[in-house]
Amino acid sequence: GCGGKGGRGALVVLEGLDRSGKSSQCARLLSFLKGKGCDADGWRFPDRTTSVGQMISAYLANQSQLDDRTVHLLFSANRWEKRGLMESKLLSGTTLIVDRYSHSGVAFSAAKGLDLEWCKAPENGLIAPDLVIYLDVQPEKAAERGGYGDERYEKIEFQKKVADYYLSLRDSTWKVVDGSLPMETVEEQLRELVTKCIQECQGKPLANLAW
Ligand code: TMP
Ligand code: MG
Repeated sequence: GCGGKGGRGALVVLEGLDRSGKSSQCARLLSFLKGKGCDADGWRFPDRTTSVGQMISAYLANQSQLDDRTVHLLFSANRWEKRGLMESKLLSGTTLIVDRYSHSGVAFSAAKGLDLEWCKAPENGLIAPDLVIYLDVQPEKAAERGGYGDERYEKIEFQKKVADYYLSLRDSTWKVVDGSLPMETVEEQLRELVTKCIQECQGKPLANLAW
């Protein structure tokens, strides 16, 4: 099984540059957890299914232009519109494996030159992750992966700046996994980190981001 009865679920976030392998690893992790009988859902941000998410998606595909601060607030709003559901899922015992969250929000916008503190402010009050796993891949390596360059931010020089901001956001929930290792090795490391996290946060109350 997975955790005790009546305990809350864990909020686990995977972060990393574009094409760092997050989405594949999220899928593998989710099927591992479900296979163990664990109550777990896979989420991702941006959630492109909502109307806010569709505005973000068009912007990323270069089909629309938006002011930098405006799009920053849309990304944040896209998390806020899911906060209620996120809280009820976690409290009812569902572990959430989330592909990108607030750290993406801050790192990508700050890399465009927006003020770091201004970028953090709208994230405050969202649910704080229990564990953030950073898949560490060199921007040059990520760029060799399939589909690179399709969306707005997939440029090596920009991604290097994003990586620097990610590093500046590390806190006690942050774990780095070398994303250039073989997929199975990365998968194994994620399983260990997440299994431990789910057990440890059983008795801990949910917290809010306070950046
Ligand atoms: P995706 O490829 O994971 O769907 O993410 C799309 C892009 O959006 C990716 O380049 C990261 C960026 N992003 C932000 O700029 N701010 C955010 O808050 C999030 C969640 C993603
Ligand atoms: Mg992408």
